Amino acid sequence: MSINTNTAGLPNIDDLEKLANELFSALPNEFPKEISLSPNASEHPRATKIAETLLSAGNLGGVDAVFPVSNHDTLAGQSGFAPLATPAVSASPIGSVQTPPSFGGFGGSPSVTQYGKAPAFGGYNNAFSDPSIENISQLGDLNVDISEGFASAPAAGSGVSPSGVQTGNNVNLDNPQTGFNDVNLGKNDTNSSALNQNYLPFELEHSSFEAELKTALEALNSSFGIPSLVTTPGIIDTPGSYYFLNQNPFGFDSKKADVTPVSHNEFEGFGGANFDPHIIKKDFPILKETVNGKPLIWFDNAATTQKPQSVIDRVSYFYEHENSNIHRAAHELAARASDAYEAAREKVKVFLNARSVNEIVFVRGATEGINLVAQSWGNHNLVAGDEIVVSNLEHHANIVPWKRLADKKGLKLRVIPVDDDGQILLDEYAKLLNSKTKLVAFTQVSNALGTVTPAKQMVEMAHAAGAKVLLDGAQSVSHMKVDVSYLNADWLVFSGHKIFGPTGIGVVYGKEDLLNEMEPYQSGGNMIQDVTFEEIKYHKAPNRFEAGTGNIADAIGLGAALDYVSKIGIEVIGQYEHFLLDYATNLLKQIPGVRLIGTAANKASVLSFNLQGFTNEEVGQALNKEGIAVRTGHHCAQPILRRMGVETAVRPSLAFYNTTQDVDVFIETLWKLKNKKV
Ligand code: ALA
Repeated sequence: MSINTNTAGLPNIDDLEKLANELFSALPNEFPKEISLSPNASEHPRATKIAETLLSAGNLGGVDAVFPVSNHDTLAGQSGFAPLATPAVSASPIGSVQTPPSFGGFGGSPSVTQYGKAPAFGGYNNAFSDPSIENISQLGDLNVDISEGFASAPAAGSGVSPSGVQTGNNVNLDNPQTGFNDVNLGKNDTNSSALNQNYLPFELEHSSFEAELKTALEALNSSFGIPSLVTTPGIIDTPGSYYFLNQNPFGFDSKKADVTPVSHNEFEGFGGANFDPHIIKKDFPILKETVNGKPLIWFDNAATTQKPQSVIDRVSYFYEHENSNIHRAAHELAARASDAYEAAREKVKVFLNARSVNEIVFVRGATEGINLVAQSWGNHNLVAGDEIVVSNLEHHANIVPWKRLADKKGLKLRVIPVDDDGQILLDEYAKLLNSKTKLVAFTQVSNALGTVTPAKQMVEMAHAAGAKVLLDGAQSVSHMKVDVSYLNADWLVFSGHKIFGPTGIGVVYGKEDLLNEMEPYQSGGNMIQDVTFEEIKYHKAPNRFEAGTGNIADAIGLGAALDYVSKIGIEVIGQYEHFLLDYATNLLKQIPGVRLIGTAANKASVLSFNLQGFTNEEVGQALNKEGIAVRTGHHCAQPILRRMGVETAVRPSLAFYNTTQDVDVFIETLWKLKNKKV
């Protein structure tokens, strides 16, 4: 398949920017010119003021289509401009996740996704709007409404990579020239009509967006009597940037930002979700801690995530009411413990969309999972001369076990290179595959750079060469839907502690037949059917791989963590985090001397960087003084950092309980640090 990336068909970004500038310019002078995603009264007083003023100004007829209000909106009855915040919704700062920009029907303008403060228009709705709801655990089986008022997310990289655009207008996806491809291409044919017909991202909708902006301008004109809403020379101080950005303390320059075409299609169907990071935060007791007298801001989520109260309670409940070994006794507590443990396995199965619980093996974490596959399958199936392919992005856990096996058995370890943005070079990968390739092991998200790899396509390429595939989901499961049946890797591993569950528990997913063909990894009780001194018969998977007494309580805790994530919705989480990543990236890159390490078009919530003139430790310490936790160092991924030309980096990594406010404190601290030395 080849896809046309001729950008000539895209809307004219400058024209759109001019229109948007006019829209904001057209607001009366007393209106603040900053509109934020999170219309939280305390966080964004100016946004609140806009909302209040607009409400008191009454009907801005004709703008409905531009700023749709959800059916569930607590502001029902207020037609026109859907305000950003009102006292009525202050308990629900984000009724629906609004990704920038949130003009109705327009998802992720290549230009407007670049600025720091995102306008947010749109619905507030149901469950989270209820001020009596203090945390998500009270919601029971929350059925998140994802059907309305949700602008498509500006998923970086969901279109064609910038390098793809630069290197030519036609990317042949069967023989890619750019090394980067969209994992979502063709994923859902019914939703991919634009792609199937070789349309460009936004090609089908740009004219309507322009029309919507014009309608908004006209509506403002008639409501406030602005004399002229046509282009006014001089209004736009900095051509190409939103003029209100000139007033920001950090001097954003949207022109400097990369312009990434975004596919609309992949986010269809996720509109109107309820999500509020401020309410989410309340579920995590540790986030109430202070560090150096400041509220803790946890930006070390790639290393480990914090735990919601529901997970903490579930583990306590186990020890208070269920504690027993599993499977081996006929008493009541053994039954309770066994039931809870197997229920957790079922939850993992559903979360990953595996075919059977027999495909879910509990281990200590992703590292043990990779070692299991290396020692069990690798040790018994690979012979001298066979080749294992890993990517340059891997963390040590997905390098060291393979390197050791290669050294022990005379295997060849080959490495897929990445481009300067940290994106897999698919054409180079294709060249590495041959009849000797027996295994490809790679990560779905890089822990050091945040790069999202085109996993589905890479799995297909490996299978076409006859190789098995291990996919490392340690950094992906908490940020995106990971569907093992769709991805079709032979194994997938992840760690519970990186998805809001306990430490010491993780999962190997493996195709059932393959698991049953594999030699046991460790041996002892629990994994055998029958033992004599002459012969041992093993259980089938998963028990075959769960020798001894496992981490029962924490497996159950992991089940509770998956419940928690599922109640919010992993897609909603992914969209919010994309917003937050864009927000933080755009602010971070404005700081002189910041070098971003890892600039893939398709990234998850990692923001590695260096700050010129400061060691990474100095930066980490300055942030820690303000209560901000980031990891500094090599992130257990030395090869990829060296590929990017550095030994170490500062790595903030975001999760859904982080807010724009957290990001603002982080950015301000870096500016203060920078200014001290200037
Ligand atoms: N792999 C973990 C990290 O990235 C430890 O920090």
